[in-house]
Amino acid sequence: MSFDLVLFGGTGDLAWRKLMPALFQAFRHGTLPADGRIIGVGRDNLSAEQYRTRIQARFNEVELAKRPSEEEFTRFAALLQFVRMDLSLPDDYAGLGQLLKARNADTVVMYVATAPTLFTTVCEQLAMAGLNTPNVRVVLEKPLGHDLASNRAINQTVRRIFSENQIFRIDHYLGKPAVQNLFALRFGNALFEPLWRREHIANIQITIAEELGVEKRGAFYDNTGALRDMVQNHALQLLCAIGMEPPINAHADAIRDEKLKVLRSLKPWTPEALAQDVIRGQYAAGTVGGAPVKAYRQEEGVNPESNTETFVALRTEIKNWRWAGVPFYIRTGKRLAGSDAHIEVNFRPTPHAIFNAPAGIGNSLVINLQPKDGLELHLLAQGQNNRRNSQELAAVQLDLDFDKRFGSGRVGAYERLLLDVLDGRLNLFVRSDEQEEAWRWVEPILEHWEADAKGPRLYNSGTWGPSAASAMIARDGYCWSEEA
Ligand code: BG6
Repeated sequence: MSFDLVLFGGTGDLAWRKLMPALFQAFRHGTLPADGRIIGVGRDNLSAEQYRTRIQARFNEVELAKRPSEEEFTRFAALLQFVRMDLSLPDDYAGLGQLLKARNADTVVMYVATAPTLFTTVCEQLAMAGLNTPNVRVVLEKPLGHDLASNRAINQTVRRIFSENQIFRIDHYLGKPAVQNLFALRFGNALFEPLWRREHIANIQITIAEELGVEKRGAFYDNTGALRDMVQNHALQLLCAIGMEPPINAHADAIRDEKLKVLRSLKPWTPEALAQDVIRGQYAAGTVGGAPVKAYRQEEGVNPESNTETFVALRTEIKNWRWAGVPFYIRTGKRLAGSDAHIEVNFRPTPHAIFNAPAGIGNSLVINLQPKDGLELHLLAQGQNNRRNSQELAAVQLDLDFDKRFGSGRVGAYERLLLDVLDGRLNLFVRSDEQEEAWRWVEPILEHWEADAKGPRLYNSGTWGPSAASAMIARDGYCWSEEA
């Protein structure tokens, strides 16, 4: 299969940090179809050679095992081209069109890794240049819009130009091996299904914690915040993967239909719930990994009086027969005490205790997303050292470390998703109705914050966020995993 991959935003942060390294991995693994071109698009006046040199330099920032050797880079670089474009100029699209038509590849991918404000312009211009033929697929990076109205506007325009099966809305969390394993765990095994419901599950906690701050994205982030950056998409997609009903088959729409039902079943916000069940925080200065770090408001590109949240913790429920009454907690933030993403499924305690079991431990399944992906089943067992008292139980853990089982060189999220785009597989991409439903659900929170002059609660960098997040979960009689 021949392909042309056009990368709008080809000199942007995402291209350097994620997309080029992912494309190179696919190239190294021999999974990237050999007959292809990767065409970076940007405003700079670069020759192909200069573009390649820039990319090679940035590869030095990638972890050692994933860096190309000189020889590998030379072969990879042969795929790379650069086109200078002003994204508002029709003539520039005509030029791109000529480049593409001269080769007439089987598949043309338009990867739009630009600011979301440019998504509609790019798609409209592509259509005017006749570059929306059926062999074209368009990839849209998140965030897709700033709120429900802007998301809808983008989706409406893009859907006028491309059919839904040509549109690949990326949520890279769906490409993480752990998330695909969650689908495998739930729908490839019958073991957990009878337990996967309100009768047996006490609560579910989704944590996406980062040690990193906003890095060089201060200006973007200050206009975005953690709710839009992480909750509306990544965290809600994880919640869907945990909460959805088994799909009728493994096709994209069967999966997306079930995820959509979860989003539609989320408990609507009331003023009381908005006041009690959503905590927003912002990092103050502190220490992360032993080094002092500055406050969010001191970061480059950030308004020194900014009220943008860098932390969100919230409680919700899925209002259906399977989940009624089970709290789902979501927590995500920057500059926290660790970089750790996991989902904890806490089962109900035994109905009647005949052993002396320590409270609050055991009885849970932890799905680790990062830094390592794997499963941990936490149980209570009879320890070997308690000769005196056979009633004493201790916590034990069954570990399924996927690195140990499958090796550490597995396909990364962007590599997986880019290959899926080239293959036309939509399973791990988000449909427009899912996306809109997720925006509809977060919007009352955005409005509530807008009207609330108190602003976010400050937390010291290197902690687990504002103490109000602990108080919120404690009201239900539970705690976050690190507090157990
Ligand atoms: C991105 C967010 O979507 O996900 C970033 O915009 C965040 O702010 C990143 O850092 C986290 O992704 P990962 O794969 O490193 O957990």
